[in-house]
Amino acid sequence: MGTYNAIELSIEGDVARVNFNRPEKRNCMSPELHRNMYEALDEIEAAKVKVIVITGNGPSFCAGMDLEQCFLEPFDKPELMAEINHYAFGWFTRIKKSKAVTIGKVNGYCFGGGMALAGVLDIVVAADESLWGLSEVNFGIFPGGGTTWTVCNNMNRKKGIHYSVSGETFTGKQAEEFGYATFAVPLAELDAKTEEVIGKLTNKGRIVLGKTKEVYEKVLGMDFEEAIDYEMAKFWELSRETNDDWVRTALASFKRREFKPGTQAYTLVNDV
Ligand code: COA
Repeated sequence: MGTYNAIELSIEGDVARVNFNRPEKRNCMSPELHRNMYEALDEIEAAKVKVIVITGNGPSFCAGMDLEQCFLEPFDKPELMAEINHYAFGWFTRIKKSKAVTIGKVNGYCFGGGMALAGVLDIVVAADESLWGLSEVNFGIFPGGGTTWTVCNNMNRKKGIHYSVSGETFTGKQAEEFGYATFAVPLAELDAKTEEVIGKLTNKGRIVLGKTKEVYEKVLGMDFEEAIDYEMAKFWELSRETNDDWVRTALASFKRREFKPGTQAYTLVNDV
């Protein structure tokens, strides 16, 4: 496993865990952190995990872009800025397209680019007490670099515009009400809740998890008839890639009344 200064990475079995590790800077994302994430994703992808969990060390999830190192310092060095953006937007795009299910464990501050990250992840478990905000307007810009896209795609228009133009903060509990977080629990229960969520994913097939996400994202932009065609094509693709696991093993087991698919996950034989 590579060594990284700005993050901690561990890969065990089906789960990769990333901790942003700049607590003294509230885990804001420096150029080094962006490069670390880009390289860590190579390792994570090679390990073919089912789940990636991202959180922050210390009292913060992520305080957004490092305003000094990503903006102030390289401002008059366009080539350097372009390189920083290459890694920053590169890993954001890759994590959004990841075949693994991505989980954000929002333990504390979640500002600006931190909200963009929470916004591209698939599942967010937030501490009730965590503090969120689109702070960009406070220093004279709008939420950019995909952040506005994540606002549009995770909360409704009235809330999205309000929090973008006011810079007002809100809590993890509110984030759940808005739909930006999947679950919100007291900070003391954050680890346990996240592990519960992970446990409900790792007992599923790796390929079916990836295809479920891919189909969801693509179908969002389709009309119903297109969606039927696309979903059926992907359905047979999944079936082929898993040697028809769903029918040959799972439904065969159901036929023997060995499990109830409504409430139990069958341990697949080929899609593991
Ligand atoms: N960029 C650069 N440095 C940052 C940072 C950021 N986004 N967020 C925090 N830091 C630095 C602080 O400048 C401070 O550095 P110092 O120790 O050298 O003075 C250190 O991290 C600790 O932050 P501090 O402000 O003392 O912590 P706090 O707990 O009192 O407040 C925040 C936490 C998140 C409310 C506050 O740090 C903040 O407003 N950060 C900016 C958040 C933001 O607007 N992000 C959007 C960027 S897109």
